[in-house]
Amino acid sequence: MIRGYSPRRYLMCPPEHFRVAYAINPWMDPGKPVDTALAVAQWEALRERYRALGHTVDELAPRRELPDMVFAANGATVLGGRVLGARFAHRERAEEADAHHDWYTTHGFTEVRPAEHTNEGEGDFTPTASWLLAARGFRSDPLAVQEAQEYFGRPAIGLHLVDPAFYHLDTALCVLAGDEIMYYPGAFSPGSRAVLRRLFPDALLATAEDARAFGLNAVSDGHHVLLPQEASGLVEPLRLRGYEPVPVHLSELLKGGGSVKCCTAEIRG
Ligand code: ARG
Repeated sequence: MIRGYSPRRYLMCPPEHFRVAYAINPWMDPGKPVDTALAVAQWEALRERYRALGHTVDELAPRRELPDMVFAANGATVLGGRVLGARFAHRERAEEADAHHDWYTTHGFTEVRPAEHTNEGEGDFTPTASWLLAARGFRSDPLAVQEAQEYFGRPAIGLHLVDPAFYHLDTALCVLAGDEIMYYPGAFSPGSRAVLRRLFPDALLATAEDARAFGLNAVSDGHHVLLPQEASGLVEPLRLRGYEPVPVHLSELLKGGGSVKCCTAEIRG
């Protein structure tokens, strides 16, 4: 069954050392204080939500010198048990790729490949039932699209992001189930918008307001869709399609330019 709930395995990294120490996306302001205790509490609530919904959550040990490590979705892409490592665009995050690589190699994964070209994991790569959507524009290298296609053996659809507020694919597009997606057209180039219309004519289109509230930085298990509570405009359209929206509170992590999906790497067996 393609549509409908299935239990997932996630990898998350606690925000014990989360802070906004530098600015590599327009949402980050190092002058704005972060309440770390609140970030941890919000993150733990998300983790417990996943567990209550029947999902498995593994944890990656945070490192003090890597304040963005909480955004675990960026560290690798896992599909069919095969792991493609990340290679970060910014040196501030470069070592996170090693932490993810080590985690996979010590947790029974035998196909773990370091990336040749810059890619920020599930920040820019997301599989649907038929394709691997692969974005570039701000972080991932266009050559990473080909690299991922070859490694996973799944047709990769290259998409071009054009608005710096939506610097990663997962800030502008979310796979709900199978080949059903929701996205914000304004984040993409005209050509990519045409590609998305062609492949996903029935997609749920988000407003700029919901996209700016990180409503597309959501995680779907095929039925429940966990999304930031500020993106309230998506709740009704999701319900009408038979999904169960689960609003979560992640305000502290928004200061780093991330929300639900950024904190959640999916380990696809
Ligand atoms: N501060 C991080 C960065 O700019 C946030 C990453 C968000 N992660 C994501 N999957 N979009 O790299």
